[in-house]
Amino acid sequence: MARNGSPEMSSAGAQFVVPPDDIVFGCTPGMLAIRQQLKKVCSTNIPMLVQGDGGTGKETLARWVHLRSPWRSGPFIKVNFAAIPGGLLESELFGYTAGAFTGANTTRIGLVEMAQGGTLFLDQITDLEPTFQAKLLQLLQDGIFTRLGDQQERRLEARIICASTRRVDEAVSKGHFRQDLYYRINVFEIVLPPLSARREDIPAIVSYLLRRLSARFQREASTLEASKLRLLQNHEWRGNIRELENWISRYVLLGEDELLQELVVAKHQYSGKPYELPDGGIPLKRIARQAGRAMSRELILRALQANHWNRRRAARDLKISYRTLLYEIREIGLPSKRLQKQTAKPTEEVNPSPPSPD
Ligand SMILES: Nc1ncnc2c1ncn2[C@@H]1O[C@H](COP(=O)(O)OP(=O)(O)OP(=O)(O)O)[C@@H](O)[C@H]1O
Ligand SMILES: [Mg+2]
Repeated sequence: MARNGSPEMSSAGAQFVVPPDDIVFGCTPGMLAIRQQLKKVCSTNIPMLVQGDGGTGKETLARWVHLRSPWRSGPFIKVNFAAIPGGLLESELFGYTAGAFTGANTTRIGLVEMAQGGTLFLDQITDLEPTFQAKLLQLLQDGIFTRLGDQQERRLEARIICASTRRVDEAVSKGHFRQDLYYRINVFEIVLPPLSARREDIPAIVSYLLRRLSARFQREASTLEASKLRLLQNHEWRGNIRELENWISRYVLLGEDELLQELVVAKHQYSGKPYELPDGGIPLKRIARQAGRAMSRELILRALQANHWNRRRAARDLKISYRTLLYEIREIGLPSKRLQKQTAKPTEEVNPSPPSPD
């Protein structure tokens, strides 16, 4: 596996470099066991399969492993099988030579080749079509691949980590995934628990995310006191750490008042259970004001979306004046029209600055 000046050589002789930006494993037995096992396998080339619900941290974990592996000085290349159309898969993955097919004017290297000396992260592996599963099996078995239209066989020198939101063993039993490929990718398996199964870790994750997101948005954010943290710990978090991260982003940008009611309202929506007062209580007037503001925000947002962000028409639908709508938008810090269209990441959708006029 060693290449010239390879990470493997450096890991044998030099100090193991741990990046300062560590992720949170927390203190629940399951996560502690994962951390212990990872310490033993990070430096090996053992194929890894990371499974877990959406937003539980599969990619984050794969990047963490990469940064602590002998391949850390190489690239981390992600292939999302759910996002690449079947017809493009082979050329995207293995690349092609000029003239390999109509439109192939130049030689292009594929994602597999790009991962040379680093980590190839194969995400949503159960979305892989059966015909392509055989090709992947070949790559994993022999480490050999060829560019489309090329005779030359090339060897892949990289760590391979696969991930899936769906259980791969279930896909195998339903006949959607090859059993031999499953055994090949699943030498070391990690199943990340949903956030609701590791509520004790929420305070540590919150403090990590507060630090990271305050730095990203260049905003000071006050730490959450114990009673507020308990609200977060009791929340459902169906979108797992990603949903919590989005919440913290909004908290950093908008502040506590705006957001605590979100949890209160959501709690009712999810469970229908009565809201329990945190230590010290929250005054009813304040909760009512916050809930009212959340509802206004939701309605204004819907009216804007329904009117393609035309504020005059939205104001008419809401039966308020245009000036009042502009004031409300500024008060509740709604994302701007432009940002809504451009931003792909939900964590960056919130625009704290007042919107520009139509
Ligand atoms: N252990 C962790 N500590 C702190 N933050 C984390 C941790 N795991 C994940 N995150 C954060 O949560 C977010 C979601 O993580 P990630 O994208 O790795 O999840 P995923 O399981 O790959 O999700 P999906 O199935 O939707 O692709 C990321 O932005 C990441 O920063
Ligand atoms: Mg992912």
